[in-house]
Amino acid sequence: MKTIKQAVAFIPSNESRGARRERRALQEITVAGREEPFWKKMGLLAGDEEGPDATTRQPFGTHSFKGPHRLHPAPHRASTMTFAAAYPFLTESGLGHEGTYIGSDVFGSGAFSYDPWVLYEKGVISGPSIVIIGTVGTGKSMCAKSLVARSITLGRKAAVASDPKGEWVSVANAVGGKVISVGPGRSTRVNPLDAGPRSRELSNAQWQAVVRQRRRQLLVALVSLMRQGVPMHPVEHTALDMALTEAVAANETPTLPMVLEYLLNPSKETRELVGPEGGRAVAHSLRRTVSGDLEGMFDAPSTVSFDADAPMMVMDTSALIGASEQALSLAAACGATWLEAAITNPDGGKRIVVYDEGWRMLADPYMLVKMSEQWRLARTYGIANLLIMHKVADLNEIGDSTSGHRQKALGLLTEADTRIIYRQKHDSMSLTKDALGLTEAECGQVEELPKGVGLWKVGNRSFIVANEVTSDELTVFSTDHRMMP
Ligand SMILES: Nc1ncnc2c1ncn2[C@@H]1O[C@H](COP(=O)(O)OP(=O)(O)OP(=O)(O)O)[C@@H](O)[C@H]1O
Ligand SMILES: [Mg+2]
Repeated sequence: MKTIKQAVAFIPSNESRGARRERRALQEITVAGREEPFWKKMGLLAGDEEGPDATTRQPFGTHSFKGPHRLHPAPHRASTMTFAAAYPFLTESGLGHEGTYIGSDVFGSGAFSYDPWVLYEKGVISGPSIVIIGTVGTGKSMCAKSLVARSITLGRKAAVASDPKGEWVSVANAVGGKVISVGPGRSTRVNPLDAGPRSRELSNAQWQAVVRQRRRQLLVALVSLMRQGVPMHPVEHTALDMALTEAVAANETPTLPMVLEYLLNPSKETRELVGPEGGRAVAHSLRRTVSGDLEGMFDAPSTVSFDADAPMMVMDTSALIGASEQALSLAAACGATWLEAAITNPDGGKRIVVYDEGWRMLADPYMLVKMSEQWRLARTYGIANLLIMHKVADLNEIGDSTSGHRQKALGLLTEADTRIIYRQKHDSMSLTKDALGLTEAECGQVEELPKGVGLWKVGNRSFIVANEVTSDELTVFSTDHRMMP
């Protein structure tokens, strides 16, 4: 029997049609045990209808290598095992039909559904966290919105912890969710020192300790944010702690102005411990949260409550567009702490927690600690964190490659067991490749992906998925209104 190499290597220069047919038939026979050649079945090679010999035929032209001697490069052959490693998205058989419909598997030609909890149960992923990364306008938010809105119809819930553009408001309204809009001129007040719903699993003492710890962490973070990272003195920690204790003793749910009041006018006991001026500098740092550009947002008892039964809650901070970086960070810390108190409750049901434009949060040390905690405890609380960002290179702004902060932020990306990569520019690819563990072939695909199509890395499986949205969904999810005539 002739081998493929022989059959392909000798293509007579004046081959008649009949002779060509015969030669091709022979080639097909040589692929023993297959009804049709593997390249036809898999559609792998360019011009795949032609088979491997197509790769040897050069087009006519100046650089066509046509000469007295014909060039016959050997066709590229590889086992399906090799293809599965290099082109995993081509050889996938799908994740099954359970879960939320996302769209179609471009190479698998079937429907693609996804649900982090179902896949966790099946052992496909070892954690429910999701990262969506891609350049501007490629369809990241659209993908997250369709996942969230459709998951809600299947009984899941959602909370949007960061919505700096206010684009999730229409989604919440469409699915019967609630929106909490904070910002200058908005009437809503959110008290970041709220205790949040209590978990049934915790005793009274445990619950008080959890709430106290959360409040203390927030206060320290707010002071650090104001001081741009300059650490607090031990005496200041004590002063802040005493002020918090006294505010809680006077009022079960204290507010930031109450704590500030105890810092500015310390009790006799506090004065003896830290001196009359011990807490004064901390008080001045904290003052910005109750006056200045954040006045009237986080400085009074909450006028809204977290509705644990609502399918979706959105923390809309779009009114703060244009505010200083510091104000945005303070607002993010207050808003996210309030939301975290409500969602980190094991009785709260399965919930997707979205951080849109998440790089801003990653850049903030306090938010990063909070997010890392939430990533770690996701399974305990039944939440699936979904972080959306543009590129891994955004983390460069956090610090150099040796910085602990940056390593921690990178850890959130690498630890996410579901990584959805939308189109990336060539110069961003090497960082993305390393951080998200892409193969060369996957990188090649990612650079070419059209809008709305993403590479899904789910555990160690890989798919190229076109996110399909209906025209009604498009009206609600689109962010292009202002770009249209
Ligand atoms: N799957 C899709 N089907 C149809 N249109 C889409 C799809 N994905 C995105 N689009 C269109 O592209 C626009 C931008 O999408 P989207 O807001 O999701 O981008 P993005 O990646 O989140 O951008 P940004 O980085 O600016 O947040 C949408 O408003 C919509 O019109
Ligand atoms: Mg977006």
